[in-house]
Amino acid sequence: MNGQVIRTAAAAVLAVACSAAAAQSVEVMHWWTSGGEGAAVGVLKKDLEAKGVKWVDMAVSGGGGEAAMTALRARAVAGNPPTAAQLLGMAVIDWSGEGLLGDLNEQAAKEGWDKVVPPALQRFAKADGKWVAVPVNIHRPHWLWMNAKIFKDNGLTPPRTWDEFNATADKLKAKGILPLAIGGQPWQEATAWEGIVLGLGGPDFYRKAVIEADAASLKSATMVKVFDQMRKLRGYADKNFAGRDWNLATGMVLKGEAAMQLMGDWAKGEVLAAKMTPGKDILCAVAPGTQNSYLFNTDFFAMFKVGGDRRPAQLTMASSVMNPGFQETFNLAKGSIPARSDVPMDKFDECGKKSMTDLKAAATAKTMYGSLAHGHAQPAAIQRAYLDVITKHFNSEQSSKDAAESLAKAVAAAK
Ligand code: GAL
Repeated sequence: MNGQVIRTAAAAVLAVACSAAAAQSVEVMHWWTSGGEGAAVGVLKKDLEAKGVKWVDMAVSGGGGEAAMTALRARAVAGNPPTAAQLLGMAVIDWSGEGLLGDLNEQAAKEGWDKVVPPALQRFAKADGKWVAVPVNIHRPHWLWMNAKIFKDNGLTPPRTWDEFNATADKLKAKGILPLAIGGQPWQEATAWEGIVLGLGGPDFYRKAVIEADAASLKSATMVKVFDQMRKLRGYADKNFAGRDWNLATGMVLKGEAAMQLMGDWAKGEVLAAKMTPGKDILCAVAPGTQNSYLFNTDFFAMFKVGGDRRPAQLTMASSVMNPGFQETFNLAKGSIPARSDVPMDKFDECGKKSMTDLKAAATAKTMYGSLAHGHAQPAAIQRAYLDVITKHFNSEQSSKDAAESLAKAVAAAK
């Protein structure tokens, strides 16, 4: 048998082997690059590799996921989307609207997803009755994280109202302690803003101003108060906040360089990654005034339409993500709570248990809404209009009245 025949046969065998290996891999786009986020994504990698599915990482750094969405768009336009992508609710609706997401109904029926995923999440995970994405968690964006030692040393307790928050911050400032660590990026400023809308205005006001984008609410006296409180927050932060990543701001609270941070419970992942104890070293409380309401955002893994050979690995990933045991382990590391409603909470800390209790109470009381800053309240173009106005006000001397009026105009123009 001449050399040429042997080489061709070897190449063919190699090609088959490579495609088989490629078939048993998933390329996953996500923006989980901080310490805590990395620990959580590691749980999924390990779970899949134990099932013989290789993880091909497409990590795009940048909290909140804006840079990741740009990278995903480029891949999709080039006709080469990843196997799966981390998406927020509204983005799942957008991508399924473009017909690029695959149908997971067979898996969903086999594993009974309809029975264990809350309707508020199914609204995003399903398109025309088809499951196109799997929800891995429920995050709550409006938490207050506090350095326990600073609070104890200064005889302080977690503030329950924005007035109490300002009084606490004033006391800290008077003692030369930096009250607030914040990162100056539009999504971070919007995360603080929506907690104030909810805490100062209440759940009805949040529904009108954010979910219904009601012009009168957007330029109301209550909204002016919201922007006034944002201005106060800037006064409690250091001068170098512009552009700072969220996890660096969390790090300031962990190190006692600042007393508090307003951030979603992904911050708890950083507390754990620093081997500190939530509820003990770092206190958690819901953002002032939001005790009886709940904003949520969920990370979905959307499954893109891929070649038949890559489908088995993709379905293995969907099944892994929806596995109750996996949802427990992943969320213990991530700082969020399981998307599935049937995962026992006994291993979760007091912050996690509180999140689940409050979620159930808010769902019953109908005071649970999607987060604007984290893609569960408005489509991207309208969300953008909110974020542009919020960040302009936070980084300028614009009056709160002007900001409220330009918000009403900008949102009306974007609708
Ligand atoms: C959110 C996402 C979280 C968290 C955060 C910071 O939008 O849902 O999982 O990682 O961004 O990057």
